[in-house]
Amino acid sequence: MEKIVSLCKRRGFIFPACEIYGGFSAAYSYGPYGAQLKKNIKDAWWKKFVEERADIVGLDGPILLHPKLWEASGHTTGFNDAMVDCKECKKRFRADHLVKDLTGKDLEGDLPAMTAALQGQKCPECGKSNWTDAKMVSMMFKTEMNGFDGPVYLRPETAGAIFVEFKNVVDSCRVKIPFGIAQIGKAFRNEIVARNFIFRTREFEQMEIEYFFDPEMPWEDLFAKWLDWQEEFFTEIGIDKKKLVRFEHSKEKLSHYSKKTVDFEYLYPFGQSELCGLAHRGEFDLGAHSKLSGQDLSWTDSATGRKFTPNVLEPSFGLDRALLAVLDSAYTEEDIPLSGGVDGASPDGVGDVKETRIVLKFSPKIAPVKIAIFPLLKNKPVLVEKAKSIFDELKKDFACEFDDNGNVGKRYRRQDEIGTPYCVTVDFDTIEKDDTVTVRDRDTMQQERIKAAELKKYFEDKLK
Ligand code: GAP
Repeated sequence: MEKIVSLCKRRGFIFPACEIYGGFSAAYSYGPYGAQLKKNIKDAWWKKFVEERADIVGLDGPILLHPKLWEASGHTTGFNDAMVDCKECKKRFRADHLVKDLTGKDLEGDLPAMTAALQGQKCPECGKSNWTDAKMVSMMFKTEMNGFDGPVYLRPETAGAIFVEFKNVVDSCRVKIPFGIAQIGKAFRNEIVARNFIFRTREFEQMEIEYFFDPEMPWEDLFAKWLDWQEEFFTEIGIDKKKLVRFEHSKEKLSHYSKKTVDFEYLYPFGQSELCGLAHRGEFDLGAHSKLSGQDLSWTDSATGRKFTPNVLEPSFGLDRALLAVLDSAYTEEDIPLSGGVDGASPDGVGDVKETRIVLKFSPKIAPVKIAIFPLLKNKPVLVEKAKSIFDELKKDFACEFDDNGNVGKRYRRQDEIGTPYCVTVDFDTIEKDDTVTVRDRDTMQQERIKAAELKKYFEDKLK
């Protein structure tokens, strides 16, 4: 994990936010490459689940929504986690996580049992044993709004906006059951402890779908298909399938309205934990909003006239956790000959002197930079000019970067760490001989000569 965190900072993917003020409570900023990577993951998700599907439409709802929404969904009163403080060192913990870490028991939701289980257990921070009782605290971020009486909340999930716009979507678009509404956006949870880098933060992004279907339709096949589509998406963005685990919630742990919930867990460097989930939420949400708002949120079958409240399957993806799993799956260390060779002349090194190459083997689909273009030498205008003209052409179709810093070996190492699939080098043969350039493949480090005029077609084939 430390290696990933350090690479993310060193190479402009993710920084601890507000470092000049000493950092701010496990908040992170996505730097230039991280922001692009995140966007590419979002775009891949939107393309797969919205653009390529006739049965799913998109939505972009507000972060500040009517508090009645959270009353109906149960969040205002029921979206709580248990906390406990060490009375000696004042460190705060999430009670169920602490009990699990110290005793191996899963007592989530049972305050007296958690309080009892911690008696005699030592604080991981100070080693003493003096605990407050476990108590529930709300995870909702409360704020106020001009012109509105009473508290307003930052949304704790994107799903809420989808349910309250269900009627608008049905009335304005030609959707037909079964269909889904998809949304990507920020969600906010006042987590007791934010930890493990971007895995658990108080501000994060979700990509969620509410998929509405007829309650009389057998749902098991649809549920199984959704699990496959979720897994397919993860593999398409380069998440290692071998590190994905399906985890079905036990009947006792299910919400009263849910028929089934399965999480995808991922083997993160700090251990196996949740990546995303799929839940059968029955008619709970539309039913609750219909009751509290007094609006009819049912569906009428145009063929039979039968009226019903649709049931819903909810595939919910955490974008930041997906990005962490992508980084972990892509992170590779390889022993290779010294970069630039002992004399600095050979781009990928020669001979016996070894160095460790760090490579992010991103799927080309989501790599923040697809092609880096270099002049062999920075101080030869003829090479720089030609490399710039290739950059200007290719950047129209691909995310490109022009780099003339250091020697070619160093540039390769930098692009490897950013995860750039291809590097193009303009040298004297390009100018004096045959207008060919060197194209170097990130993963194999093999190089081939390609005509400059054919680069666009070459990369269209490679990067599609
Ligand atoms: N609408 C359903 C819902 O919100 P959830 O399991 O609470 O379900 C869905 O959240 C996903 O959001 C999780 O699987 C996870 O990927 C992500 N997520 C939840 N809390 C998070 C946090 N504090 N930091 C980062 N991601 C989080």
